[in-house]
Amino acid sequence: MHEDDLIIRPARPEDEGELAVLNRAAWSPLSDVSPQPPEEDGVFDERHAPEQFLLALLDGRVVGYIRQVPATPLASNRHVRQIQGLAVDAEVRGRGVGRSLVGAACAAARAEGARKLTLRVLGWNVPARRLYESCGFVVEGSLAEEFLIDGSYVDDIWMARRLAD
Ligand SMILES: CC(C)(COP(=O)(O)OP(=O)(O)OC[C@H]1O[C@@H](n2cnc3c(N)ncnc32)[C@H](O)[C@@H]1OP(=O)(O)O)[C@@H](O)C(=O)NCCC(=O)NCCS
Repeated sequence: MHEDDLIIRPARPEDEGELAVLNRAAWSPLSDVSPQPPEEDGVFDERHAPEQFLLALLDGRVVGYIRQVPATPLASNRHVRQIQGLAVDAEVRGRGVGRSLVGAACAAARAEGARKLTLRVLGWNVPARRLYESCGFVVEGSLAEEFLIDGSYVDDIWMARRLAD
């Protein structure tokens, strides 16, 4: 993939269909703690607004997304944002799309005044953990055996990256 081919832009309401297909296809017990969404489910609702999502497009096709939101509604916590959703189409993984999305989310959070970006990742999700580490995130803590998935207890790893210079 040539870097110039990849476009990253905020989502728009009309992207919902394509985004829902990607989200459903990318679902896996490696990365998800909720059941696979049914086909008829949308992506946007009152808590998931289009402007929270950044999309990655290759040849005009949505091949990835990242969603970052305030970590909590608290004023005292306003400087912290959290990644709550990241997926890349399996067909284009390993070509730098995920790294570009994380970089774009960091830039957007920084532009919105955040000084720290956090996320949660399942302990067994090695591809995502390596991606976040390569983007400067470090482990801040973990909740041991927090989820029971397909008969296995899995740790919930909390990672963070400082955004301030
Ligand atoms: C995790 C995910 C977003 C990575 O996207 P991607 O576009 O394949 O990632 P990139 O090509 O940008 O990879 C960047 C770095 O991540 C790491 N990485 C990516 N895939 C990896 C894999 N399968 N194994 C180990 N490290 C991996 C590498 O460090 C890589 O850098 P390198 O290519 O220089 O070695 C993708 O695998 C995915 O959508 N997974 C399912 C959903 C998911 O796990 N979301 C995260 C929930 S917390």
